[in-house]
Amino acid sequence: MNTVEKAVFDFSDYESLEAAVASERVQRARGEMGRRLLVLGHHYQRDEVIELADLRGDSYKLSELAAENRECRAIVFCGVHFMAETADILANRPERLAERGGARVPVILPDLRAGCSLADMADGAQVERCWHELADVIDTEDVTPITYVNSSAELKAFCGRHGGIVCTSANARGALEWAFSQRERVLFFPDQHLGRNTARAMDIPLKQMPLWDPGLDGFGGNPAEAIRGSRVILWKGYCGVHQFFLPGDIDRLREKYPDIKVIVHPECMMEVADRADALGSTGRIISEIEQSPPGTRWAVGTERRLVERLRREHPDKEIHLLSDEPCICETMSMIDLPHLCWAVENLAAGAAVNVVEVEPQTARWALEALKRMLEVK
Ligand code: 13P
Ligand code: SF4
Repeated sequence: MNTVEKAVFDFSDYESLEAAVASERVQRARGEMGRRLLVLGHHYQRDEVIELADLRGDSYKLSELAAENRECRAIVFCGVHFMAETADILANRPERLAERGGARVPVILPDLRAGCSLADMADGAQVERCWHELADVIDTEDVTPITYVNSSAELKAFCGRHGGIVCTSANARGALEWAFSQRERVLFFPDQHLGRNTARAMDIPLKQMPLWDPGLDGFGGNPAEAIRGSRVILWKGYCGVHQFFLPGDIDRLREKYPDIKVIVHPECMMEVADRADALGSTGRIISEIEQSPPGTRWAVGTERRLVERLRREHPDKEIHLLSDEPCICETMSMIDLPHLCWAVENLAAGAAVNVVEVEPQTARWALEALKRMLEVK
């Protein structure tokens, strides 16, 4: 499919489209493009958007889908920027490009403002600085860097160059086990909670997990001794949505409903993870609830839209959002029907707008770390 990057249709003509009209037009344009177009959707998307996705999944599943598909000639990614970058790297890796005679699959993020505040909590310069400072007290040859997939391609490339790996919330334990099979220590960024919750489940004591604050001098605010005694150095990043869930929310619900089962995303803080019955990626949360017997009562600690969808899809179960706070991922919400319609109709007219394309050297090294991610379940 040959596309140009200049829009054929202007977004201003889409802004006030009615939902039903936009939805019908997206379906029509998709119909015209058939299998040449793959629309992927993350579980946190708006209902009206995810309904139009060909396939939906958590970050791990969406990476696999982008890596596997051989038919599509364009991907519209209804998720956030780091997910689109990952899809670009995997869908346009050298062997796939060779199969297509060098033609790229453009990966389109319908609204480029759809970022991830957690991913923004670590940048390349900060991580390079951390690595150099670490070398003053420990041998960095003994450290495997792990980046959560919620990070820029630049950080994935850092991991690729230093023998490291990308993980998602679905395979973080496997990634940590792999890392320890290679080297003695791990530098885990940018989500402290996923790192801490996973390492704790592997019986690594808290005192061996110093927290690196990139805003502080002197080993990220740690005494040199703490770095020497470390096994997992955690980065001080967090997801603002999952910070809403508090231990008191679990206590309150358990008091009211003693039989309630609590499942939370591992981006929740340790005190919440410790009180929960289970932790899981968005994909795992969905399958646990699907497989539970009718009548089961659940409290779920993750993004509101997913929890409300689960409630609607499982009227035979009682499903509560773990917090009374909004718990909405505002950046995911940027992908709305007008943007999706604009992106898809432009594509059908031969124009790829809002293409996310990772610079080749970054993509090459990030791919090394992503390939390791896809080998670890
Ligand atoms: P999953 O990997 O579970 O899809 O989660 C991604 C995410 O951004 C959670 O906040
Ligand atoms: Fe990022 Fe949090 Fe939104 Fe997930 S929920 S995409 S971690 S801001």
